[in-house]
Amino acid sequence: MAALVMTELKTVGALVVWARQSLDLAGVSNAAQEAMWLLEHALGVRSHQLVSEVERLVALDAWTRAESLVMRRAAREPLQYLLGTQEFYGLDFSVSPAVLIPRPETELLIKEVVRHVGSHSTVTIVDVGTGSGCVAVTLASLLNGTRILAIDQSPEALAVAKNNAARHAVGDRIEWLEGDLLAPLQGRQLVGSVDVIVSNPPYIAEADWAVLEPEVRVFEPRLALVGGQQGTEFHARLLQDSQEFLAPGGLLVMEIGQDQAPMVRQIAEQVGGYAALRVVEDAAGIERVVIAQRLG
Ligand SMILES: C[S@@+](CC[C@H](N)C(=O)[O-])C[C@H]1O[C@@H](n2cnc3c(N)ncnc32)[C@H](O)[C@@H]1O
Repeated sequence: MAALVMTELKTVGALVVWARQSLDLAGVSNAAQEAMWLLEHALGVRSHQLVSEVERLVALDAWTRAESLVMRRAAREPLQYLLGTQEFYGLDFSVSPAVLIPRPETELLIKEVVRHVGSHSTVTIVDVGTGSGCVAVTLASLLNGTRILAIDQSPEALAVAKNNAARHAVGDRIEWLEGDLLAPLQGRQLVGSVDVIVSNPPYIAEADWAVLEPEVRVFEPRLALVGGQQGTEFHARLLQDSQEFLAPGGLLVMEIGQDQAPMVRQIAEQVGGYAALRVVEDAAGIERVVIAQRLG
């Protein structure tokens, strides 16, 4: 690993130069900016102080904190796990290695669900694979009066999600369920009555796992990422299992991986029971969300 090691107590200016060089040498693409964010966090200062107080000596405990964070980032641990937070749809979410770091493209799920729900207030929404809770919590904070159920197989992820819901004062609006996909809905009088099932499921194909960036492959939970041999296995199960719970005209809204739209469309046609399938592109022009409407 290519990180430099600091050997003697130095100034803020020297720490900034060392941090930037260490991240640069480790191949972190946004090294200068990330060095500043890590040092702001470690030293408890604002970025302008890192520039204006270059001569100030760094206290030993702050130095140790900074050194540890920079070394971990140089070992390609994701910045968000080190800072403990990621912004999603304008809200801050706590993140830990138990959850996938929310991605900007997942905001498309929110836009599509909000567009569908509109001003209807008595709506039931299920978020499958809630992870950090970014989808469920954002929807709860945008859509007053909706009933939201959030499912994940990982109890550790659910703990993070609950914490995020409390942070955004929607904890009492979301029911948290641990289990496999839609199985936890059984026995809850939800058959044929759910308006929207939304999911960002694991969708990386097994073979693509090895070529992922180290930040993702080594540090993010494999359970959150790998979807099976094809990568579309979760979409297939969701298309199949959602039929029991969706109300007539209800929507299944799923994030997909690049180039998966044709395969998911084919699966939907084989499964049947859906009136229309719409594919939505993200800001980069990549087909990113599939929306299947249950026959009315
Ligand atoms: C791609 S992550 C999405 C997390 C979050 N919704 C987001 O968009 O950032 C997929 C999530 O599905 C969960 N998961 C994986 N397999 C599952 C299963 N069989 N049943 C329920 N949840 C599952 C993982 O634990 C993970 O939190």
